[in-house]
Amino acid sequence: MMRAEFDDTLITGNEMIDTQHRELIDRINQLLESCENGNDKLAAIKMMDYLADYTEFHFSAEEKLQEEINYPGIKEHRQKHDELRKVVADLTRMLEEEEGPSDAFVAQVQKNVIEWLYTHIKGFDRSVAEYRFIVDNPDRL
Ligand SMILES: [Fe+2]
Repeated sequence: MMRAEFDDTLITGNEMIDTQHRELIDRINQLLESCENGNDKLAAIKMMDYLADYTEFHFSAEEKLQEEINYPGIKEHRQKHDELRKVVADLTRMLEEEEGPSDAFVAQVQKNVIEWLYTHIKGFDRSVAEYRFIVDNPDRL
């Protein structure tokens, strides 16, 4: 089964953001692993909650950072985060309604969580990290 992977293309250069992305990807993989171990619904729900908790923690931290540096794209960025917040809520509901984690569930994690995250990190999060760097190093330009 496919796993999410933190590779060099996902590095934003902001240490806090990069560290949290590693943890997020770790938790996504733990969810995928729990889906492989038979049809253990409770284990999958537990890992889904574990991922949901960290998603909220991470998004809140990123949004707080953007507020602190008066990041001009904060509104659009928060709307993007709300997209994944909804996906996480939908996936949790899907898992609770199913007998156990289905192939359709795993396919949605792949497309709506992992691929979404890669695209988000490479665009939106990298822009925040660059802006933060400019704010911190005005003389470097
Ligand atoms: Fe973000």
